[in-house]
Amino acid sequence: MVKIGNIELGEFPLLLAPMEDVSDPPFRYVCKQQGADLMYTEFISSEGLIRNAAKSTHKLDVFEYERPIGIQLFGSDINSMHEAALIAEQAKPDLIDINYGCPVKQVACKGAGAALLQDIPKMVSMTKKIVDSVKLPVTVKTRLGWDDKTKNILEVAERLQDIGIKALTVHARTRSQMYKGSADWTLLGETEK
Ligand SMILES: Cc1cc2nc3c(=O)[nH]c(=O)nc-3n(C[C@H](O)[C@H](O)[C@H](O)COP(=O)(O)O)c2cc1C
Repeated sequence: MVKIGNIELGEFPLLLAPMEDVSDPPFRYVCKQQGADLMYTEFISSEGLIRNAAKSTHKLDVFEYERPIGIQLFGSDINSMHEAALIAEQAKPDLIDINYGCPVKQVACKGAGAALLQDIPKMVSMTKKIVDSVKLPVTVKTRLGWDDKTKNILEVAERLQDIGIKALTVHARTRSQMYKGSADWTLLGETEK
């Protein structure tokens, strides 16, 4: 049985990955009908949320039939991410997911998403502040590392586990690979242990 906090997901759960401009409520409706066991919102900007930007707050809409569902957040500032997590919690998802994997320039070159793979102490502090202040399970999505020379996922996984995240999703590529090239399934397997 796979469990995330108190959320029971069966033996081989089917998860819908968070996808910007894709995993919105109509898409999630279809995926739920097709058997998704756990779904995530698109990633939501912490800065947008704390400034009450409509584009961001609309993405907080979650519906009863979607449960269990996670809200995913991204951002570069620890206090903004903390505040955004408290706002997201009010929307009553089943979990909060933090994005440390987005490779695109507009995110990773502004210190958010995969950029946190280059500053593990900051990643740990950001995650801990959120874990310690929301009542919901907190999960993380990340990559193997920033580039081929810095595949630090084993350290990341251990340190995040130690501060109490309930699950870790790993895109088995580095930030440099973006969405192309071979995934490193061996390192992913080692991370699982
Ligand atoms: C259009 C698109 C949007 C995405 N948006 C997000 C996102 O908002 N948050 C996130 O964690 N990953 C995002 N991803 C990454 C996916 O969740 C997934 O990790 C990645 O596509 C690797 O899985 P795949 O090899 O099955 O495509 C996105 C991917 C695509 C293709």
